[in-house]
Amino acid sequence: MSYLEEAREYEERMERKIAAEERPLYHLTARTGWLNDPNGFSFYGGRYHLFYQYNPYSTHWDRMHWGEWSSPDLIHWSFERAAMAPDEAYESGCFSGSAALDREGNPVFMYTAHRIIPDGREEIVRETQCIARLIERELVKEEGNPVISEEGLPEGFSLSDFRDPKIWREGEYFYSVLSSRFEDGLGAVLLYRSSDLLHWDFVKLLKKNDGRFGRMWECPDFFRLDDHSVLFVSAIAMKALSPEFRNGFCSLAFLGKDLGGEPDLREKRVQALDLGFDFYAPQTMLSPDGRRILIAWMQAPESGNLAPEGAGWYGQMCFPRELSIRGGRLFQSPIREISSLYGESTELDLCADSERSIPELHGRTMDLSLELKAEREDFCELRLCFAKRGNIFTTLSYRPAEGRLILDRRAAGRAASICEYREVLLPKREKEASLRLLLDRFSFEIFLNGGESVLSGTLYDCPAEAGELTIFAKGARIRAVKHEIESGILRGNC
Ligand code: FRU
Repeated sequence: MSYLEEAREYEERMERKIAAEERPLYHLTARTGWLNDPNGFSFYGGRYHLFYQYNPYSTHWDRMHWGEWSSPDLIHWSFERAAMAPDEAYESGCFSGSAALDREGNPVFMYTAHRIIPDGREEIVRETQCIARLIERELVKEEGNPVISEEGLPEGFSLSDFRDPKIWREGEYFYSVLSSRFEDGLGAVLLYRSSDLLHWDFVKLLKKNDGRFGRMWECPDFFRLDDHSVLFVSAIAMKALSPEFRNGFCSLAFLGKDLGGEPDLREKRVQALDLGFDFYAPQTMLSPDGRRILIAWMQAPESGNLAPEGAGWYGQMCFPRELSIRGGRLFQSPIREISSLYGESTELDLCADSERSIPELHGRTMDLSLELKAEREDFCELRLCFAKRGNIFTTLSYRPAEGRLILDRRAAGRAASICEYREVLLPKREKEASLRLLLDRFSFEIFLNGGESVLSGTLYDCPAEAGELTIFAKGARIRAVKHEIESGILRGNC
């Protein structure tokens, strides 16, 4: 049996052991076992396809395979069979990659072959770039692989950290951005170009870490949006020099004016993509109707060894987000298709001069919007407590005029020692502010002021019954709209 057949046989067997209630209602998880980065996010054959870094065999990162879901609408997803296994001599793991359409409109995939070569008592790591094509529903690796290796790397860059191609087509060329590490230990994004997908030329260094943003960079993405060029990277070993950035693993967006022509970045602004606890390795795609959609691993490597005891899966994707740029800043909001998941809806006008439990807003799976209007001088803070039961809860304290927000999940019930408290600075708001909470069984995502800032976090070990919600907002009026999310997003199996 090949590695791929073995993985398929295994996942089919193990998936049955995970009851629907043990999964999130509307966030994606691995068919079984471990998941990290989104890969190959694309649309072809009339469906969306989303692949993922996958270890079916345990809830830990290990020999990386690619798993797959597909969907007609970005909302209702089906598990597909494992898509790739590390079965070639040049790879011990199929690392992250992406997809584009070739000139005939067929999907083509570019990914990193991660290879561990024993060398006496040591191991050498080699990362090279490979192509796979879809042939009769199977991802078939090119005979000419790898298509970028040692010879394609500019001087001073490391072949042991050279990965995560994000490929796209523009005019007559295919482009790919790749991350690597320069000899000073700092990450960089390299731009490559090809006209036949097999021969790739190094074009230029698109961006080099100047030392402010961690060490090595991973998972670059480059696209044009609303007259801007945007580059994403996920930085390792960040030191949070300002409250906008988090320590550890932090995903960043560099933005600059797009002057057309060859891909370029004239950086004007850098922004942390998510200010919460769990967000890494985002990847985007252009939907057939022209929207730039992001999806990310709703976790980061530092909590990789903290799967809840007895879990059949570990790792989730964030809910897909639509991107836009306003006033030079990147905004993110949940894709509008979310409304197809809505059940019962409730609208309320509220005052909460002291902390109030609001039974109409209780629940664990909802899309809740709060529009806040300061009505008196004494308004300074919105305090929201959710996923609560007794002394289990998560809180958010938001002071719009100061632009200060504290997110605290120390009491959310998790047994593992993880980052649980974050204080961040946001653009200030005088009289009005808004907050949107996507709450699911194992996570929350908070969008502030139309998606100007976002904070995501997982909620493992937080009992399903923890569904109370309280609000405190002295001196303010709140309009609340709650949409219950009732139906799951997974439809049958492959
Ligand atoms: C980011 C990452 C990528 C790599 C993949 C391996 O989370 O480290 O750089 O391709 O995960 O699973």
